[in-house]
Amino acid sequence: MTSNSPNYIMALDLGTTGNRAILFDRAGQIAAQAYKELTQYYPQPGWVEHDPTEIWQDLNWAMQTVLKDAEIAPRQIAAIGLTVQRETCLLWDKTTGKPLHNAIVWQDRRTAPLCNKLREEGYVDDIYNRTGLVLDAYFSATKLNWLIDWVKTHQSVNWDNVLAGTIDTWALWNLTGGKVHATDHSNASRTMLLDLKTGTWDATLLDRFGIPGEIMPKIQTSLGEFGRTDPKLLGVEIPITAILGDQQAALFAHGCNRPGSLKCTYGTGAFLVSHTGSEIARSQNYLLSTIAWSQAASGESPTLGYALEGSMFTAGACIQWLRDGLKLIETAAETEAMANQVEDNGGVYFVPALSGLGAPHWDMNARGAFLGITRGVQREQMVRAVLEAIAYQAKEVVQAVNEDSGTPIQTLKVDGGACNNNFLMQFQADVLGIPVERPAVLDATAQGAAFAAGLAVGFWDSYDTLVSNRKIDRVFEPGTGATQAQANFTLWKKAVDRAKNWIE
Ligand code: G3P
Repeated sequence: MTSNSPNYIMALDLGTTGNRAILFDRAGQIAAQAYKELTQYYPQPGWVEHDPTEIWQDLNWAMQTVLKDAEIAPRQIAAIGLTVQRETCLLWDKTTGKPLHNAIVWQDRRTAPLCNKLREEGYVDDIYNRTGLVLDAYFSATKLNWLIDWVKTHQSVNWDNVLAGTIDTWALWNLTGGKVHATDHSNASRTMLLDLKTGTWDATLLDRFGIPGEIMPKIQTSLGEFGRTDPKLLGVEIPITAILGDQQAALFAHGCNRPGSLKCTYGTGAFLVSHTGSEIARSQNYLLSTIAWSQAASGESPTLGYALEGSMFTAGACIQWLRDGLKLIETAAETEAMANQVEDNGGVYFVPALSGLGAPHWDMNARGAFLGITRGVQREQMVRAVLEAIAYQAKEVVQAVNEDSGTPIQTLKVDGGACNNNFLMQFQADVLGIPVERPAVLDATAQGAAFAAGLAVGFWDSYDTLVSNRKIDRVFEPGTGATQAQANFTLWKKAVDRAKNWIE
């Protein structure tokens, strides 16, 4: 094989806190990467925005930089896989390419009043039956409704030129030079506008949220060609052959393609997702029914794979808040040593409701809290309480999954940046009472997008081989701290109850 042969797959991973391009080689290993942190805007309490132009510029920068740093020519890239933070959405003008407003981020709570109104009007069950989702400001539908109202009030636009989309759609449209306006089933399933059974936009819901169907992207299978990069970007056309929501991409990377196989990703939030096969599974414990990914054999109609998901809104985000908001730490990495410096949490419990609470509480009005502070409490104990809270949340969701399935989870497969923290992983094993399995490559979202894109283009031919070649870095077994951690979980739940429904 010559150095000009396509020897790499490029994964573009557009997360909540940063944008990354990673090159994967034929062995499925990371060859090079480039990353830039993304600016977060908090215009009002509970509001979170991103600048879509910054996302596109950083994505473009990351693609160019990873190739330059690794001295790899663009023609050596066989395909691109795109994976993104989900639910975050925007409107733009297709003639100018300019966003009409900042993107509203999934963590944003500004549309809680609209959700409450719909709840009072009795739409909860109808929305759940159609979309598999809990009526919550988390999803795109109410955000798009807000954006459309805002544009109508503040701007005079020709609506024939307006396009809507989640971040994958925005990135794809820009990558293809404005040629392709599409999304995949996994991202579409997070909008609260998708008919989960048919995998098509639900006309009733579009109408209910005042969203014209014409501005919505075409829905395609997650694995398959979406388009080719504009040659102006990299000098060559590279096929984009997979798009997945980031949590679904991680599920793909872990090899979770069978009912009951699951993983938990600790990113900005933490998301425990369990594949449920080709049938929609319904939870009795406030987990979401969603699409894992879709595929189609050539000329055939798409096959939809489903999943159950426990979405926890704040995980890595509360460590970032300790750093950027409270300035209690300088780097995320130092939290591990700080938590280990103290014997216990000193009676301090943290409720990570910085964006309300997701599964299993679904309380948009909850707010973050530290409880149990006394005069002797030290900074290290507060940091430790924050790490412990991430693990307690995951325990609540594991309990919900266990209750739904009737078969307790035996091992928790994990990934995501926060898994680097050995204290967190050990505490997670202790509080769950089961082993926690950490892979060598923690960027499972990017890895999943690369695997999907490479398989779709024939760069690799065996999903099972790719998945079985992944290496495990470490398994954390429940240890001596398990009894205390599990006892403290009860106190943490009491703290959560105090923080619920905080704002009216
Ligand atoms: O649903 C939100 C989720 O997709 C965000 O993922 O990786 O940015 O925490 P992440």
